[in-house]
Amino acid sequence: MAVLSKVFLALIAASVVVGQSQPYGQCGGQGWSGATTCTSGWTCTVSNPFYSQCLPGTATTTATTTTLSTTKSTPPATTTSTTPVSTTTTATGSSPSSGVIGTDFEGTVDSSVWSVIVTAQSGGSATIDTTKAHSGTHSLKIVSTGGYSNHIFYGVSNLNALGSGSNIYGRYYANFLNAFTQDHTTHMMMTDPVSQTLRMGGQFGVLDWNRASDDSIMPDGSPSSNAGSIAIAGNTWYCIEFHLSRTTGQIETWVNGSAISSLTTPQTRWGSSYIPNPSNWGLGWESYGSDPNTVWYDDIALGTSRLGC
Ligand SMILES: *[C@@H]1O[C@H](CO)[C@@H](O)[C@H](O)[C@H]1NC(C)=O
Repeated sequence: MAVLSKVFLALIAASVVVGQSQPYGQCGGQGWSGATTCTSGWTCTVSNPFYSQCLPGTATTTATTTTLSTTKSTPPATTTSTTPVSTTTTATGSSPSSGVIGTDFEGTVDSSVWSVIVTAQSGGSATIDTTKAHSGTHSLKIVSTGGYSNHIFYGVSNLNALGSGSNIYGRYYANFLNAFTQDHTTHMMMTDPVSQTLRMGGQFGVLDWNRASDDSIMPDGSPSSNAGSIAIAGNTWYCIEFHLSRTTGQIETWVNGSAISSLTTPQTRWGSSYIPNPSNWGLGWESYGSDPNTVWYDDIALGTSRLGC
């Protein structure tokens, strides 16, 4: 009987643990199958479609799917990718299939494909690191002390490795030590021999695209346009995906699998006549103010169709 009551008590204890999330624990979000209520004194609060967290508060509520779906960005009307990609798909890029090149930084990285492609006078550093990883134990660590002359980018020096088809798709996980500020920064770049450099970075605290030829930005900087992009927090893994068509110039962007409307063409001030044909591609850090950052990148892949997160 003593044994039975111990088992019974253990079962009750286990069900209490499973039934309610602990303070600051996850309590909801797309793909979440755990507890959706918090312990007494804590409230389940939606951070974004993928993550709800128990924060201090009196109510004990459940994160509803209604709340989650209203916070998702609206898919752009002109997107060319109609097949939704599951956000749980695992594609580490470590074993490239045909038309896909990638690395997860575990084991030996093929240095004939992946290398530092751009550095400036003072340089920054690019190292394979084990302090943070999205999968496995290794990632690429970029350190830049800020200011233009400390930029550094690591990636593919010759995009011909993807073939000459019109579509370039990329997928990478990025973890920025410092959240994006109001200042202009770049973390992804492609050199377009005709129009100089096409870059993805930040401005006004949100993710943006920028082209060096005329310094156009997307979103265009207006509050409503910025609201259709996404703020980037520090110390958080983001799955960033992009698509560039070398025949139409179309650009699409996804974060954690959701389309970002203000980072998808057409956009009024970006125009439709810009058709880049980049020769290389890289991830790193460059700031045009004085924004230092340390960035970890992992599970990087480029392909000719969407790769997913
Ligand atoms: C993206 O996913 C990560 C977890 O992988 C999460 O911490 C982050 O908040 C998510 N961001 C957005 C904007 O959905």
